[in-house]
Amino acid sequence: MQKVLIEGGYPLRGVIRVSGAKNAVLKLMAAALLGKGSFVIHDVPQIKDVFTMIGVLSALGVEARFENSVLTLNIDQIHGEAPTELVREMRASIQVMGPLLARLGRVRIAKPGGCAIGDRPIDLHLKNLERLGAVIDERHGYITAHCSRLIGQEISLDFPSVGATENIMMAATLAKGRTVIHNAAREPEIVDVQNFLNQMGAKISGAGTSEIVIEGVPEDHIGNAEYTVIPDRIEAGTYLIAAAMTRGKIKLENVIPQHIQVLLSKLEETNAHLSVGPNTIVIEGGRNIQPANIITLPYPGFATDLQPQFMSLVTLAQGSSVIKETIYSHRFGHVEELRRMGADIQLDSNSAVVRGVKQLSGASVRAMDLRAGAALVIAGLAAHGTTEIAGVEHIMRGYEKMIGKLQAVGAKIIQVDGESD
Ligand code: UD1
Repeated sequence: MQKVLIEGGYPLRGVIRVSGAKNAVLKLMAAALLGKGSFVIHDVPQIKDVFTMIGVLSALGVEARFENSVLTLNIDQIHGEAPTELVREMRASIQVMGPLLARLGRVRIAKPGGCAIGDRPIDLHLKNLERLGAVIDERHGYITAHCSRLIGQEISLDFPSVGATENIMMAATLAKGRTVIHNAAREPEIVDVQNFLNQMGAKISGAGTSEIVIEGVPEDHIGNAEYTVIPDRIEAGTYLIAAAMTRGKIKLENVIPQHIQVLLSKLEETNAHLSVGPNTIVIEGGRNIQPANIITLPYPGFATDLQPQFMSLVTLAQGSSVIKETIYSHRFGHVEELRRMGADIQLDSNSAVVRGVKQLSGASVRAMDLRAGAALVIAGLAAHGTTEIAGVEHIMRGYEKMIGKLQAVGAKIIQVDGESD
């Protein structure tokens, strides 16, 4: 069991380069399954989720090579039986369903379970793949789906689900005729999936708006592509918040500021000073952190994946902040752990009232999920004394070289072997 030890109280100072976006690259990897050929993706982060997806693709028959942040997928014959253990390890593996179904006409995949932050059903994925012509059977914890060629349709999502939008987009790429997704999710990662698919030969427009149009193409139109994944906006946001909370000053490189516009204005509200360039952001934390309210919403609203980290920040504010979570039913696992460090947080269903305290103190805490873990790292960096974080494997799922990047900007943070528990 790996643990992270942090000696808090050192302002972050220096430069951090943001890695490629986890939530984009996993979908690009799934999208490649639609075609035969060679697919080269640049700036791929070395994180556990990417290795899990490489495992999923390899088990389906893909030849993968991953060197120096460049992932090459050579794809010829594949089959539609997704490997159960790996799929259970990572919910995003469900994104292989749409491409496999469209290309092979059949797929069998384990049903993803709930997770630490909520139930996370996939009803919108299944309902709309059925609308495109799939016959779906759910039995004994598995989903099997088959179809002859999928048929383009008008689709209206009940909720702008990121995963459902991407799965439908990928499936509709090979459908006969035109598919229009109304109330589509508008996240930047969806634009990345569109751009990659178009490079492969797809005909998709509208990603980034709530209406995406997919003109289906035959399978032999889809092939080789080379692409660079967008920077990870959640990683960028995490380090900005860490700099603000430690009253440090850092420069982020390889960042797209528009992708975190709401976070930037919220950081200014907390008294941080920002200087924004085309692909860089310099942040200097203010001495006195001011409170700020947030409500998580689908993009372009405040990202739920930055809610735990932002909560850490306002635990030290001079006043009270209200944080409302609307995307997930149980995304407050970090609250109990932040309280252990001295935070004053009251929970009332999907809202938290955070009354700022003068200081946090280091404690022994546990990361329950990826972003909750990042929130605890940030809190540990700002706290007095030593913080010990268990559950590090959750953090390593999604942050490339987090320990090294933080050490390079002055953090006293190390990873150690803890006792198994
Ligand atoms: C993606 C991100 C995740 C982020 C989330 C919201 C990846 C790998 N993960 O997850 O980090 O937190 O977007 O920005 O890209 N829902 C349903 N039925 C469905 C699908 C979703 O009820 O069929 C609900 C979910 O339970 C959840 C909400 O919709 O409460 C948002 O889910 P969704 O937008 O689909 O997120 P993911 O694609 O799973």
